[in-house]
Amino acid sequence: MDFNRKILTLDEFTIQQLRDFPKATGELSRLLRDIGLAAKRVNVEVNKAGLVDILGDAGTINVQGEDVKKLDVYANNQFLGVLRHGISCAGLGSEELDDIVVFDDEISNNSKYVIMIDPLDGSSNIDVNVSIGTIFGVYRRVTTPGKPCDRSDFLQRGRNQVAAGYIVYGSSTMLVYATRRGVNGFTLDPSIGEFTLSHPNIKCPEKGKIYSVNHGNFYQYDEKVKKYITACQTKTKETGGPYTQRYIGSMVSDVHRNLIKGGIFMYPGTTGKPNGKLRLLYECNPFAFIMEVAGGKATNGKERILDIQPTELHQRTPFFIGSKLMMEELETYIA
Ligand code: AHG
Ligand code: MN
Ligand code: MN
Repeated sequence: MDFNRKILTLDEFTIQQLRDFPKATGELSRLLRDIGLAAKRVNVEVNKAGLVDILGDAGTINVQGEDVKKLDVYANNQFLGVLRHGISCAGLGSEELDDIVVFDDEISNNSKYVIMIDPLDGSSNIDVNVSIGTIFGVYRRVTTPGKPCDRSDFLQRGRNQVAAGYIVYGSSTMLVYATRRGVNGFTLDPSIGEFTLSHPNIKCPEKGKIYSVNHGNFYQYDEKVKKYITACQTKTKETGGPYTQRYIGSMVSDVHRNLIKGGIFMYPGTTGKPNGKLRLLYECNPFAFIMEVAGGKATNGKERILDIQPTELHQRTPFFIGSKLMMEELETYIA
């Protein structure tokens, strides 16, 4: 056995980062620990998803006499509860909630961060045992700590994120998070119940072979997008193709795969929904931040995602994200 081998848990890793950066207060580390804790609780329930008919479906009463909630409501409540009771978050915006939640108590009002979250992404895949996930972005408040946070803290450009991350509840459960210093991935070790550093310093390959898009919408895409997709399919060996199509329908899993292997993911606008489906604040901004730190790119087709000034909490945007050179190739089609 190699006694020098150091396996770092998420906590140990964030504490080590603090040692390298003595000015840090540890607030972000605590926030990530809180998110990790909620993720572990959600993971337990996700793993039982197939048993809902036995253990009780949404809207029914379980043996303890409590209401059994849908998994996405459950996930929302776990993250909300952990962050509210923690001491590092002033408020939360969630895809599941109409408005922001301000944690208006003395300690939370003094916290410098707010969080945007999609508690359960890909929820239509739950019933069929396909990977789902959680997505989050962390912002430094623009309002002065000491007072309750407000909407202006949440309607910030994605480039203001100080950290962003996601959890994949997949064949194994992983938490990946980025700060400006890098992207690191942690796999949940069920034997000790800890996220453990497994993918240090993730870089997205500059080029890959995968493109991910919902082909069912093909005839509703813009001509330029259609041309690009056709180019992905008609590439010859000489031009590095054809690319392989992979689309799970859980963005977390689709983008996670492309981040590791190299590739491009697209959710373009359609004739019926010109802004597409994905939400800028809960889904696109966190992934755009992670992808850029990993060396890739993300755009809405016209503008860098992280530069968009949000005007509404739940606004949607067309979304193109992936390997740097593939994104630059896409830009020559859709510019
Ligand atoms: P959510 O479950 O949070 O509503 O998001 C699902 C999203 C995203 O994960 C996925 O990429 C996309 O919906 C799939 O949509 P289509 O079925 O329209 O392709
Ligand atoms: Mn989602
Ligand atoms: Mn969701």
